[in-house]
Amino acid sequence: MAPAEMPTKKDSYKNYTKVAEFYPLSVRGFTQSEQMFRQELSRFSAITHPVLDIGSGTGRTVLAIAESLPEVEIIAVEPSTTMRAVLMHRVMQDEDLRRRVTIFSDPIQAVPLPEKLGAIVAYGVLGHFDRPERQHLWRQLMPKLAAGAPVFVELLPIGKPVDFEQKLVQGEQIGRRSYEAVFSGKAEKGDLLRIKARWQISGGGAPPCVIENTNFWHAFSLEDLAQETGLQLKRLTPESGILFS
Ligand SMILES: C[S@@+](CC[C@H](N)C(=O)[O-])C[C@H]1O[C@@H](n2cnc3c(N)ncnc32)[C@H](O)[C@@H]1O
Repeated sequence: MAPAEMPTKKDSYKNYTKVAEFYPLSVRGFTQSEQMFRQELSRFSAITHPVLDIGSGTGRTVLAIAESLPEVEIIAVEPSTTMRAVLMHRVMQDEDLRRRVTIFSDPIQAVPLPEKLGAIVAYGVLGHFDRPERQHLWRQLMPKLAAGAPVFVELLPIGKPVDFEQKLVQGEQIGRRSYEAVFSGKAEKGDLLRIKARWQISGGGAPPCVIENTNFWHAFSLEDLAQETGLQLKRLTPESGILFS
């Protein structure tokens, strides 16, 4: 592999390119977390300021916000072109989403944000930032949070950097082809995990194909986030929670 193509921790969003097409399959197992997210979001129907969704991916969280809070404006931030293409497609399908959702293609650190935010959603993204990067982000975001505004967060349920291997997708059938995915993590320096995803696609008369991808994630807990933001934590599931003042 040429050095230019080597996955690095810098600009982690670039590491989503090779596997963006599989993202909707990999989050299918997180239905409990999404249900809780929607249920808790809908308790904030009085929100008037825009809701910021950091790392919108293929649109799972944007749809959850739009359907749970049918009046709010949504600021969707997604720097990966491949992930954003799916998000854009979803938004374009629906007139209401086209009116309410603004899509920014820069990383969150470079996006012009509104004066006030009614809520922040950061699902599956904060582990891409190390502690100084998160502190910088909180300094940018906290003054914009309206009084009582919630911060919804979802992390990988790995509070400490440990080696692991997990079959995340098993025999998922789409038409004639079957999809399997194994995720494995290797603890690197400090709190960093190097996460490898190995997708195997077979069936339909074509030879099986294997796609491997590497990404990086800093392991820390929801409690760590509460401590670094000075907010209180209400845990929703092992990997998700709400931070609030
Ligand atoms: C695991 S996906 C989560 C997608 C979505 N929130 C969900 O839960 O389905 C993480 C997303 O964060 C995005 N991301 C990575 N670095 C980012 C940054 N600096 N600013 C905004 N988004 C970023 C990635 O491109 C990726 O689409």
